[in-house]
Order: sequence, then C-alpha cells, then structure tokens
Amino acid sequence: MSRIERKDTLSNPTTEAPISELIEQRLSRRDLLKGAAAMGTVGMAGGGLAGCVSMPKDQTIGFSEIKHALIEGHEVAPGYSTQLVIRWGDAMFPDAPAWNPRAQTAAAQVRQYGTDNDFLAFMPLPYGSQNSEHGILCSNHERTVGQLMFPGVTTQTTSQLTREQCEVQMASQGHDLVEIRKTGGSWQVVTDSRYNRRFTPWNADFRVGGPAAGHARMRTSADPQGMTIRGTLNNCAGGKTPWGTVLSGEENLHNYFTGDATKGPEAAAWRRYGINGRGSYIWGRYHDRFNLDKDPNETNRFGWVVEMDPYDPTSTPVKRTAIGRCKHEGATTAVSHDGRVAVYTGDDERMEYVYKFVTSGRFDPANRAANRDLLDSGILYAAKFNADGTMNWLPLVHGQGGLTAANGFNSQADVVIEARRAADVVGATPMDRPEDIEPHPETGNIFVCLTYNERRTSQQVNPANPRDNNRYGHIIEIMPPLVNGKPDHTATTCRWDFFIKCGDPSKPEHRAEYGPGTSANGWLACPDNVAFDPRGRVWIVTDGQDDAVGFSDSIYAAETSGPRRGATKLFFNAPRGSEVCGPEFTPDGRTLFVAIQHPAEERGSTFDNPSTRWPDFRADMPPRPAVLAITKNDGGEIGS
Ligand code: FEO
Ligand code: CA
Ligand code: CA
Ligand code: CA
Repeated sequence: MSRIERKDTLSNPTTEAPISELIEQRLSRRDLLKGAAAMGTVGMAGGGLAGCVSMPKDQTIGFSEIKHALIEGHEVAPGYSTQLVIRWGDAMFPDAPAWNPRAQTAAAQVRQYGTDNDFLAFMPLPYGSQNSEHGILCSNHERTVGQLMFPGVTTQTTSQLTREQCEVQMASQGHDLVEIRKTGGSWQVVTDSRYNRRFTPWNADFRVGGPAAGHARMRTSADPQGMTIRGTLNNCAGGKTPWGTVLSGEENLHNYFTGDATKGPEAAAWRRYGINGRGSYIWGRYHDRFNLDKDPNETNRFGWVVEMDPYDPTSTPVKRTAIGRCKHEGATTAVSHDGRVAVYTGDDERMEYVYKFVTSGRFDPANRAANRDLLDSGILYAAKFNADGTMNWLPLVHGQGGLTAANGFNSQADVVIEARRAADVVGATPMDRPEDIEPHPETGNIFVCLTYNERRTSQQVNPANPRDNNRYGHIIEIMPPLVNGKPDHTATTCRWDFFIKCGDPSKPEHRAEYGPGTSANGWLACPDNVAFDPRGRVWIVTDGQDDAVGFSDSIYAAETSGPRRGATKLFFNAPRGSEVCGPEFTPDGRTLFVAIQHPAEERGSTFDNPSTRWPDFRADMPPRPAVLAITKNDGGEIGS
C-alpha cells in the first residue's frame, strides 16, 4: 500500500487516550523503567535477552553498509548479487500466453504471475525438509494501480476502467503458489509443476471456517449458505504455520465496494471499517457483489486471515474467521510452551489495534492432518499497552467485557465480523498503523512494526505511541513470560518496550532512538515488514521513505540482542516509487527473497511515462513488480 493510496484512511472514532494515560505518559517511560529496575521490580524490559530460551547465536552483521539514495534501479551491499525470479505477467503454467502489457485479458492474467507482489513464503520441497534450493514460492498480490497497469490511464481516469480492465485487476490479485528450484546457481520457475496455483477474486473459491461460517451476515445471493466465498483480495503480508500451510492477510477491503454506504443494517459497521462506497476500485460497476446496494453482505466476506495448503494441490483454502475481521496486514504464528498456537496480527490503519488469537487445541507435530482446523477455535485478544512496561491481551469473547447483545453483539460471529468495534469496547490501545507483527524464532519476543501516523495529535499520544505527528514509525518488542524456559504465547499479561523509534537520529525534532553505532545511512523511516534470519537478526523493510525522508525504500538489518541491539544497517535500496515487501530467507539463510511492489508509483508517473521502467528497462515495457533473490557472492549466509 503506497502512501498515495493510503492518505485518507482513519475510521476509529475512539482515538483519544484516557486522561489516566495522558498523566502516565508525562512521566518518561525510560525513567519509569530505570526507577522500577532500581527497585528490582522489573525484568530487563527490552533487553532482548529477557525472553531468551537458548544461548544467542553470534549476530555480528558482516556486510558493508550502502548509502541512502533515490534510484531508478536497485542496489545491494558489496559482495552480494540479485537475481530476478519472477515478474508480473510471467508464465506460471505451460499454457500461459506471452505477456502483452498492451492487450491484457483476465483469461491470460489468470495463467500468469500476479501483480504488486507483497508477502513471500518459501516452503521447502519435499514437505518437512529444510531444502534451501527447491520449494514452493508463495506470494501475495496485494493491489493494482490503474495508471501503472494499463496504457493511456492516468490517476484522473482510473475511475473509468473498462470491464475487461477491472477483470484483469481481479485476476491479478490474491495469492500465487509456484514451484522454484535453484539450478546451476540460479533460481528457475517450474511452470509445469503440480503445485502451481492461483487464488484470485476471479477464479478461486474459499471455504469459511470458524464462528462466522454460515452466519446470516455472511450470506449473499451467490452463496445463500454463507459458506463459500469467491476469492481473496488485497492480500498484504502473511505468515507460515508449523504444519506447513500459509496464512495471508486480507487488508484494505474498504477500497473494493461502491454504492450507497449510508443505509441498511450494515451502515454502522461499514463506517467503522472505512467502507464509504467510494473505494479506489470500480469492480462494483460490472460485478454486483462489489455493489453495496446489490449485495451488502459481501463486505463481511473480506478482511479475514486465509489459510492455504501449498503442499496439497487439491486442498480448498479457508477463511479463518475466528482470527477476526479487520484490515489485516499479515498473520504470523508461534507455538506456545504447551503446544497451543498463537496467531499475531495487526490492523493496518491509523489508530487501529494489535491482535492475537490463541488456539484451544494443541499443535500435533506427528500428525499433519490433525492440525487442519486448529485455527477455527480459540480466543481472540486485542492489545492494551500500559505505561509501566506491561501490556494486557484483552479477550474478545461474546458475553464478556461488554461484548453483549446490549452493545449489538449477539454471538461470537458478530464479535469477529466487527472485531474492530469489539476491541473499542474492551479498551484496546489505538496504534500508529500496525504492520508486520512477528515472533522472534528463538526468544519468542513479538516485534510489532508501527509504520507511521502523522495524524496523531499531542492529545492522542499513549505509552506505546508516544510521538505526535509520528512520520517515521517505530518498532515495539513484546516479551511474553517464560514457562519452563519456553515463551508462553497464551499469557494475557506480558512486558513490552521499544526496539527502535525511527527517523533521523541526528535531528532532535525526530525524537528517534536506535542501538549504539547506527550510522548516518543506517537509520530508517516507515518500518513495514520484518523477517528473522537463522541467527536471529531482524531484517526490516520499509514503505514510504520516499515521502517521509526523500529516499528509496530499503532493507535494513539489526542485531536483536547484545550490545548492538537495535543498531540498524542499510543493506539494499529499491527502485523509486516501490516499497519492499515479503523478506523471506531460505532455511539455510543463504537466499533472501524480496518482493518489489509498485515500482514507479509516484505522483504523475504512469504506464506510458513511468519514473522508472524497473526491472526490464525497455522502452516497450512498463515497470513490473517482481521477486528478487539476493545471495552472497561467496555462497555464505546473508549478513555473515
Ligand atoms: Fe498492505 Fe499494510 O500494507
Ligand atoms: Ca506493505
Ligand atoms: Ca514478516
Ligand atoms: Ca505499508
């Protein structure tokens, strides 16, 4: 999601911090922690080691940092190479027609790799192996940009796309599975693989699982049972489960619906989800299900976390409604001390919330099939951050905490369909746009990216979002307690601290904070997604540095423990207008896959006259979102 498209979304009316929080936050959090530590009442909040379950590995970062830049191409640290793996329009099946950007059709697009690639997962082949040279690349395709997708279109005319163009857009979003193999030192796409599939709003049906399955608010004219949904859309980030499936977050659903949003039983819910009938897509002009006047319940069928099984080509993907409905950035998992599984997810809008879902059942590593519907029952929580360095996970359970019929929640289905309003009622903390929320693989600590929120006023600051006009974003670390040396992801009280506060540390007005030794090129803005490498270092990708600070979006690495914890280093610069998405390591840490989304998306930049023609740089080719594989020239681990 680029800043151009994002600028108007804010639909939480309950954004003012309670008076008690305003008083609390006047005390410096750092002073509070120091005082508490002196009294021996607090663990080493934010120490990184606090939640360690094993001896930390050597996290020393070996690459030479590059410089901040605004460039038409891309660049990576010296001693590293990039290889293009797959681009928008590349063949995914043997019968895929050659890509013709000037004569696109939905029928062709549905056989070709989608556009605006976001989250990536590398699932080794065969299942259960740690193979780092052969696997299934799973990609989200979040969105489409009319003026960069079709010739002759400008930002002024994206509301006049034809039916065929809208259907091309439908066929280009969603999620793709494609087999890839490293052969002769380079990654190749296996087009005749049995694993290759595309799940788009155009061609794929999803089963509904969890409390909203079959509910009246999920029923439409095409699906009177409320059990089968055509497609997934706006798939932003995601995660992997311990049983080898992939999760994908349906994010900005409000953009897809046209019509009168002021009337009917869903009008209040629409308002809370920013659905105003004037979204950026006009699919509703040609397809009734995206028209609020024709099929109002279709809105309730998006905004979910979806689960897909890349290893079973016959499997039906599922919308897991127990995890709640919002503008999910992604969904990542962690197995708790007792085998229950937590799913962490953020609602990416200004002043929205952080959530976790904890399964009632336990993960069974010996029986893959037994985990198949684990995500359908459990408890959904929203996060409340306190000034004393603790945070609470507040249950969103029908009948508890005001989630009752008196407040319009008649069942758990209502709670999950309106998870935002449920979190309002229980008093969750409004955040600065929660993006990726990901557990550290060793410590179990949860890294929470808050990308930015320039609209937070000084009256709206709270302990976890302490900067008004937060243009640069920050990353929080939540530390679950340990039980027998293992993180308890089921806990309802955890500790938290800041990992970094982004911005330029040489400018006091940015109020930025990093680990010691961050260089003049190592600081960042607008953290979006993160990945952890096998050594436990965090790799942070950004979205919006161009608007915030004037240079291309980038990849940074930082140690997560030890004396250089939180000292970020610049590793990669992306082409102008793009954001960097989906950082994903192979299990051996020797390939880093990254998705370059919406290259050339800048004001005035179009298909015909783009600000960069990355990656082909051919006069007859528009800019194309694509996946890169980054490797170290000596074959070693990335960052070694
Ligand atoms: Fe799709 Fe939150 O960016
Ligand atoms: Ca993003
Ligand atoms: Ca991630
Ligand atoms: Ca973003």
